[in-house]
Amino acid sequence: MAAFPSQEIFFFLLFLALILPIATRGSESILYQQCEKNFTQNDKLQDNINNVLLDMVAQSSLQGYAISSYATNTCESVYGVTRCEPDMSVEECSACITGAAQKIRTSCPDSAESHIWYENCFLHYDSTNFIGKADKRYASVWFSYYAAANPKAFEQAVGELMGEVIAETVQGRKKFGFGENYANEIKLTVYGMAQCTRDLGERECNECLEEGLEIMTDYCRDQVGCRLFASSCAIRYEIYKFSSFTSTDDGAAAPAPSPSII
Ligand SMILES: *[C@@H]1O[C@H](CO)[C@@H](O)[C@H](O)[C@H]1NC(C)=O
Repeated sequence: MAAFPSQEIFFFLLFLALILPIATRGSESILYQQCEKNFTQNDKLQDNINNVLLDMVAQSSLQGYAISSYATNTCESVYGVTRCEPDMSVEECSACITGAAQKIRTSCPDSAESHIWYENCFLHYDSTNFIGKADKRYASVWFSYYAAANPKAFEQAVGELMGEVIAETVQGRKKFGFGENYANEIKLTVYGMAQCTRDLGERECNECLEEGLEIMTDYCRDQVGCRLFASSCAIRYEIYKFSSFTSTDDGAAAPAPSPSII
């Protein structure tokens, strides 16, 4: 496996995947941050980082994600991307990204590139143009404490489900997919989600998700919940309904039933 080199995997062995309630979006706590390309004394670059962060906060508060750039094709250009979990409201996303942008400025004050991960949102900026590329340098995996009683049937159910979810994610305009798969043999429903940052095309998104799923297979084995936080993509499966979505619809809300006239 070429990408996601194992020494670069920052690894959280947490039991949270099963235990964590999903209703705690107001109190985001940081999972991890990565400060890179530290520089000295460059006010222009500092300004442009601030500009991109402000733009990403503004974009996220309007549309729930951001793809930003500032002063492109100069020596102090800055590029940025944000990702929020697909079932978050724009307000929740905005709050999470605002916190991330503030935190990254204090944690990585002189970094020309930084990544910051929260449970439900992610922010990345860089002085090198990475827009549209699959950034597979970092990944964190969480897994559930419990292993499947029938690993073979469970793996099969997960494999089928995630194949479909990844295909939907790659092809979808909003670059996410959801699905569920009832495995009759083990009487369990597996729920799955995948998401790429919205700057990725089909090929790059697929590349990130396929390699991400391999990592999950290695680390999570037969645990009944598994969650991957990468830079350009995220993947999750559980045996409980962890999201308000059940199937994809490309994120569109179901049409409201037309009022019946009696
Ligand atoms: C860059 O600076 C940050 C904050 O001062 C520090 O935590 C980090 O380790 C530095 N990164 C590198 C690659 O030196």
